[in-house]
Amino acid sequence: ASHRIAVLPGDGIGPEVVSEAVKVLELLKKLDPSLDLEFETFDWSSEYYLQHGKMMPDNALETLKKYDAILFGAIGDKRVPDDVTVWELIMPIRKQFRQYINLRPVKMLKGVPSRFEGEDIDFVIVRENAEGEYSNSGGRLYPGLEEEVAVQNTIITRIGTAKAAKFAFEYAQKHGKKSVTSATKSNAIIHSMKLWDDVVRTVAEQYPSIKLDSYYIDALAAYFVERPDDFEVVVASNLFGDILSDLGSAVVGGLGFSPSANLNPEGDFPSMFEPVHGSAPDIAGKGIANPIAQIWSAALMLEHLGRADLAAVMIEAIEQVLVEGEVRTPDLGGSATTSEMGSAISEALQQK
Ligand code: NAI
Ligand code: MG
Repeated sequence: ASHRIAVLPGDGIGPEVVSEAVKVLELLKKLDPSLDLEFETFDWSSEYYLQHGKMMPDNALETLKKYDAILFGAIGDKRVPDDVTVWELIMPIRKQFRQYINLRPVKMLKGVPSRFEGEDIDFVIVRENAEGEYSNSGGRLYPGLEEEVAVQNTIITRIGTAKAAKFAFEYAQKHGKKSVTSATKSNAIIHSMKLWDDVVRTVAEQYPSIKLDSYYIDALAAYFVERPDDFEVVVASNLFGDILSDLGSAVVGGLGFSPSANLNPEGDFPSMFEPVHGSAPDIAGKGIANPIAQIWSAALMLEHLGRADLAAVMIEAIEQVLVEGEVRTPDLGGSATTSEMGSAISEALQQK
C-alpha cells in the first residue's frame, strides 16, 4: 500500500538533516520496490511566520490529517519567540492528532563514543505526552509581594495513565521484553502519583508474563547511570519521561543519537516522527549537523507503517558507518558534512 508522508523540515538544521533522511528513504524505495512512499514537503517554519504572521496556514491540520505520517525536523529561530514556534506548530499537531505517547528509544549504537561504549543498552522510554505535570492549570497570587504564591497543578487521569501503561505493556509483549519499569514518586506526591501507581498496577495484571518494576524517580535516575543495561521498557509521566529521556540520550552518546515518535496508537490521526534535538542555531547553515537522529526517526516511522524489517536494516547501516569510523560529523570528533554522513549511510544500505 502507498504511504503518504508529510515532510516538515522546519528551521535551522531541520532542513539539513531532513533532506538526508528523505535521501535515505528514497534509496530504500529503489532497493525495495514493495516500499511505496510519497512525500510532500511543507515550508511551515519561522520564515513562513515572518511572511504570514503565523507558523502554518489555518487549514494546516486539515491538510496534514490526510497523510499517513509526518516527518518533522526541528523549529526554532532567533527572530521568533520559542513559545510561538512551539505552541503554534508542534503543540497543535501533538494535541489535535492525539499523539499521547512519546516513544524514545535509548540504544547504545556500536561505534558511538560514550563512556558506556560496548555495553548492551537497548530500551525505550514511553512518555505520557498529553497530560501530567505539563498543564496550564494553576496560577499566581499576590504578584511581586512577599506573600506571592504559585500553584501548578498536575493532571493525572485514570484513562490517560491507563493508555500510556497499556502502550508500554503492549510494546513489551510485541518486542519480547520481560519487564516494564514505572517511574513514580508516590511516597512524596501522594495524590497524583498514587493514582498513577494504581492504574499502572491494574494494567500490569493483564500481562502476567511481563514483570512490573516500580521505582521512585530519583532512584531510577541513578539506576539509568549505574545499570542502564537492565531496562527494557520504561513508562513515565510527562515530566519524568522528559527528564529521563534527556538522561537516557546522554548515556548513549547525546542528541545526535536521539530519535522520537509522537504516536497516536489508534491510528485515527497521523503520528509524527522527529529527532529530540532542536534547530541548533549555533551550527545551522554550516552543513555539519549529525543527521543520524533524523534518519533514525525516519526508521521509527517505517516501523510504525509496518516495515520494522526496513527500520532494522537502516539501524544496521547507521551502525556500520559508525563502526567503520571514516565518516564522522564534528560532534563525533570528525570533519564530515551532514550530506557526507547521509551518503555514507546510503552506501552502507546498498550493501545490505
Ligand atoms: P538544540 O538541540 O537545537 O541544540 C543543543 C546543542 O546540541 C547545540 O550546541 C547544537 O549545536 C547541538 N546539536 C543539536 N542537534 C545536533 C545535531 N543533529 N548534530 C550536531 N549537534 C547538534 O537545543 P537548543 O539550543 O536548546 O535550542 C535551539 C532552538 O531549537 C530553540 O529555538 C528551541 O526552542 C528549539 N527546539 C526545538 C525543538 C523541536 O523542534 N522539537 C526541540 C528542542 C529545541
Ligand atoms: Mg526535553
